[in-house]
Amino acid sequence: MAAKKILVTGGAGFIGYHLCKKLSTLTDNLTIYDDLSSGKMENVKDVPTAKFVKGDILDLKTLCGLPKQDLIYHLAAQVVVPYSMENPLIDFDTNAKGTLCVLEKARKDDAKLVFASSAAVYGNPSQLPTSEEYGFHPFSCYGLSKVVGEEYCQMYKEQYGLDIVITRFANVYGLRCHGVIHDFLDKLAKNSDKLEIIGTGQQSRDFVHVSDVVDLLATVGSLEKANGETYNVGLGKTIKIIDLAKMMLTILGLQNKTIVTTTGVSWQGDIHTIWFNNAKAKKELGWNPKVTLEDAIKEVIADRKLKV
Ligand SMILES: NC(=O)c1ccc[n+]([C@@H]2O[C@H](COP(=O)([O-])OP(=O)(O)OC[C@H]3O[C@@H](n4cnc5c(N)ncnc54)[C@H](O)[C@@H]3O)[C@@H](O)[C@H]2O)c1
Repeated sequence: MAAKKILVTGGAGFIGYHLCKKLSTLTDNLTIYDDLSSGKMENVKDVPTAKFVKGDILDLKTLCGLPKQDLIYHLAAQVVVPYSMENPLIDFDTNAKGTLCVLEKARKDDAKLVFASSAAVYGNPSQLPTSEEYGFHPFSCYGLSKVVGEEYCQMYKEQYGLDIVITRFANVYGLRCHGVIHDFLDKLAKNSDKLEIIGTGQQSRDFVHVSDVVDLLATVGSLEKANGETYNVGLGKTIKIIDLAKMMLTILGLQNKTIVTTTGVSWQGDIHTIWFNNAKAKKELGWNPKVTLEDAIKEVIADRKLKV
């Protein structure tokens, strides 16, 4: 990968930051392209060897004006499911049309593209654990805009012969992440007597650590046999949110102090269970996610210890 020119859209975001950190050890030609709508300059600064271009993926002129790339990781997206239900057009523009713009850049450069898709394309699957063949049953505008992104990837693969890898992430977490683990820690930092879960607590998630996700992304970026393939990227285990809350309270020593409540009602588009069958990535890529949820929660808590 050493001589490769690599572009990461969304490189200032949570997963993008961890990916760029890793890629910066593999290439001298790394560019981060991000409009900083949710990404952070702090993440960019912590990858000092990367070139940073502040730009919108919908701005085709700026995107295509970048130097020719060999490999593009497309992570930039609107990632909030409730926001997608309130603002379907904005979500579509960023995730569907934005992906098409990035594909145009890949076509112009004849670059390989790795696309970050999501468990949301499966909706509420009747097959658990869910494998790649389950197909598209999106349940939110976010899920649908990711489906459209994937379909355009397939079209560009078939019609223009581009090398494309689709990676579908379960719930990615780790340092600098957003999402339920950090929400719980934020709430506990404000008041450790009470922890309110949005929804019933019966929703279940497959949590995969960002270091394992980055390992897989680095592998598919350089492996020719991954071209044209779609991979589930999850730990292959699922945990109910109520049990996650209990696990976190036990780690924090708050199990006898904090009262856990639920709102009973979740947000529109919320999926009940995410549980990935990750056999394909294990078999074809030799990928073996290593980080357990409990160890990683301890890591996140240790990182924020002064604030909880
Ligand atoms: N975090 C997860 O659990 C998870 C799960 C499934 C899929 N994904 C996918 O992984 C990718 C990265 O997610 P993340 O968790 O790091 O999210 P994030 O919000 O931290 O990162 C997304 C980045 O994209 C940038 N961005 C958004 N719109 C842009 C635009 N129009 N032009 C340029 N940059 C733009 C943001 O500023 C941000 O830096 C996304 O495509 C997301 O859909 C994430």
